[in-house]
Amino acid sequence: MTTPQDAAGFWETTGAAKTFTHPLDPRLLAEFVPRTARVLDYGCGYGRLTAELAGLGYRSVLGVDVSAALVERGRREHPGVDLMRCAGFPLPFEDGAFDAALLFAVLTCVRQDADQTAIVQELGRLVRPGGVLYLSDVPLQSDPFNRERYERFAQRYGTYGVFETPDGGVFRHHPPERLRGLVREAGFEAVREQQDTVRTLDGHTVGRLAIVARRVRPAGASG
Ligand SMILES: C[S@@+](CC[C@H](N)C(=O)[O-])C[C@H]1O[C@@H](n2cnc3c(N)ncnc32)[C@H](O)[C@@H]1O
Repeated sequence: MTTPQDAAGFWETTGAAKTFTHPLDPRLLAEFVPRTARVLDYGCGYGRLTAELAGLGYRSVLGVDVSAALVERGRREHPGVDLMRCAGFPLPFEDGAFDAALLFAVLTCVRQDADQTAIVQELGRLVRPGGVLYLSDVPLQSDPFNRERYERFAQRYGTYGVFETPDGGVFRHHPPERLRGLVREAGFEAVREQQDTVRTLDGHTVGRLAIVARRVRPAGASG
């Protein structure tokens, strides 16, 4: 079992008190995922979207997060919503145990390539063939504020797009092709993309990329 490196510390303290704002499009979800589906909300935080799905009538939704503090908060704020803390991989579920998975604003919190790959590959294992991954994250921005911080931190972290926030967080924005590649290499084929703007947990407005993808082959198999 490996433990993601970035989750400790910030996400047990400062990050666990933040308000998450990265929105889900319920109509897009409904187009690909029926209310009867078994849905995994990976990196659920305090269960914001897990609870939203339950409120939308999704009958079987499970939120999983690495942060004990966030899962505890979620249980307080959303009693009755199914939330579980899992600190590493593999997650304790059979291959293909879920019809769909959400991965919302999680990769932006994971700075290392290998940890990002491990997350999306694990979702490739857990979503059944024909099932759906709905990922939403923050691509590289082109405004001067973001470009300046990407450049400032590129040498320290070895990756353009990684940056620190003044409160101790480390975040990453990604080339869109990297997000598409992670999805593809985990055995999914994109069926829809959406781009719009969202608020970040630090109150900035950024462009985001959402990808809905269907699982067409086992994670790791080329195709
Ligand atoms: C910005 S929050 C988003 C939470 C939720 N998906 C939402 O949209 O409300 C990012 C989440 O990723 C989790 N996280 C941070 N680093 C992680 C890592 N290395 N591996 C897996 N999850 C991580 C945090 O615990 C946190 O719950």
